[in-house]
Amino acid sequence: MTKDKVRELLSGGEFVSGEAMSQTLQVSRAAVWKAVKALRAEGYDIQSVTNKGYCLQSAPKSLHLETILGLLQGHPWTSSVQVLDEVSSTNTLAKQLAADGAPHGTVLVADCQTAGRGRLGRSFASPAGVGLYLSVILRPQVPPMELLHLTAMSAVATAKAVEQVADLEVGIKWTNDLVVGRHKLAGILTEMSLEAESGTVNYAVVGIGTNCNHKKEDFPEEIQEIATSMAIKQGEPVDRNHYTAALILALAEMYDGLFSQKKPWMAEYADRCITLGKDVQVVRGNSTRLGKALSLDENGGLLVAYEDGTQEYVNSGEVSVRGMYGYV
Ligand code: BTN
Repeated sequence: MTKDKVRELLSGGEFVSGEAMSQTLQVSRAAVWKAVKALRAEGYDIQSVTNKGYCLQSAPKSLHLETILGLLQGHPWTSSVQVLDEVSSTNTLAKQLAADGAPHGTVLVADCQTAGRGRLGRSFASPAGVGLYLSVILRPQVPPMELLHLTAMSAVATAKAVEQVADLEVGIKWTNDLVVGRHKLAGILTEMSLEAESGTVNYAVVGIGTNCNHKKEDFPEEIQEIATSMAIKQGEPVDRNHYTAALILALAEMYDGLFSQKKPWMAEYADRCITLGKDVQVVRGNSTRLGKALSLDENGGLLVAYEDGTQEYVNSGEVSVRGMYGYV
């Protein structure tokens, strides 16, 4: 589509003349002008100056289905992407849709969640206009034990997507928090339903909440010292539509390689995992044990050596792991 190509040509933030664009894209000047008009209607702020051409000032602030679909360029998951202004929780809605038969690859994206959920029954702050709250329905027909690495691989996919749209290096705090430096950028909540007769997974919902353009005061006070956003870390906002498309494509690529590419993806998980080698607190209900995070197994289970000399593999469902002196 000419519009998407024009957006790409303008993405450098420099002036590009209508003539240059029409030559590069092999379309008429009128077609370029029409594309610029369509982009402006989507919320792109495009300046035009005589003898200089067009310059992209800023991307739209709102999530826009057409823009996201354009960036997905006909990917099979395109047919079932929904963008919602507000929802209680994209994971809760995705589970309802999955139970009603929604197909593999259904993606729900929300601008705001009124009851965003995190791991271990926690809430996930999901204010409007600044974050990206996304859930995808997957239907791998395997026993749940074969999906232990799904969340870890989704964390890697999310890290890759963030790095595509922001000038940041993303780490993973075991098990599924994405971090930049010492601060949390995103979290993942995976939920599954089993088919009683076959013991295989009926559906899995992977839900990812990313802090995109939050300012410090957009977070609830109690997490302001822990949480961060792409905008805070890189000093300028990101285009949430681009990030949404990058995340959907990264998740689809992750799913394609869920079994065949497990080894390299889990190696990348280990490379990004900032918890390895650190002194940690393993919190299980009311009890806290101190130890050192030694290594990961092939599914992302964490081997911890405790002070009393014992060792155990811990998995994400039951414990949370904190650094000795705070969140990381
Ligand atoms: C965590 O940090 O504990 C996990 C947070 C997961 C939040 C995402 S936002 C999209 C999806 N919908 C939810 O209610 N939760 C997940």
